[in-house]
Amino acid sequence: MSVAKKDYKRITVKSLIEMKANSEKISMLTAYDYTMAKIIDTAGIDVILVGDSASNVMAGHETTLPITLDQMIYHAQSVIRAIKRCLVVVDLPFGSYQSDPKEALRSAIRIMKESGGHAVKMEGGKEIKDSIKKILNAGIPVMGHLGLTPQSIYKFGTYTVRAKEEQEAKKLKEDALMLQKLGCFAIVLEKVPANLAKEVAESLTIPVIGIGAGNGVDGQVLVTHDMLGMTHEFNPRFLRRYMDLFNGMSNAFSQYIDDVKSQDFPNENEQY
Ligand code: KIV
Repeated sequence: MSVAKKDYKRITVKSLIEMKANSEKISMLTAYDYTMAKIIDTAGIDVILVGDSASNVMAGHETTLPITLDQMIYHAQSVIRAIKRCLVVVDLPFGSYQSDPKEALRSAIRIMKESGGHAVKMEGGKEIKDSIKKILNAGIPVMGHLGLTPQSIYKFGTYTVRAKEEQEAKKLKEDALMLQKLGCFAIVLEKVPANLAKEVAESLTIPVIGIGAGNGVDGQVLVTHDMLGMTHEFNPRFLRRYMDLFNGMSNAFSQYIDDVKSQDFPNENEQY
């Protein structure tokens, strides 16, 4: 179904809720630096997520756990300098909000004050209810994140699909409703069965943005480096690659090396 798109000059948390009400799907991608954020924002994305996946794709860690609050703020500052239109959501990293609500609020305030980000994202349901409440009470918009929550990878043990069993699906539905009741403006649902994700999206008035959660949700998010084919070892079923930049860039680098070695570069027109 094709839906008329409203021409938003600036995307806010309210615009996302309006998009859901108007059945307009929400587009979201990750960015961690100025140049990438500028390209993505210029293309017309609705939301940039400064994801803690920076820990994997920018720093080369195996998990998202090592990235620090200072590092997330650095990435978010670079993204904020680039954008004109989209909403920028910044992940609260592992260890910056789980211990107690006061620390969670301090972390969220640092992100908002030092980076200029527009909202924070937090992984988890009722376990972190008090922290979410505290942050929302300070006027900071919160995006929830349920399903596969990579900051808990050592509890899960694997990155496989979550909530396939009835009990976990029930908890996920309760958590999603709780996040909406608390006042979260949107929820990311990661790697859960498509029919469950659809049911959750249809039961809520706030948007549900999926990654590996099928087509029945209100929007989609991908890690930019994955959809551009820069991270070629990562091949989950949900990932659509729009480019093969790993090979494209490798070829460009090889060509450059050859040109330097053969003294083809620089030529007469490329010097002063
Ligand atoms: O950190 C991240 O990139 C994320 C997305 C996978 C949703 O949380």
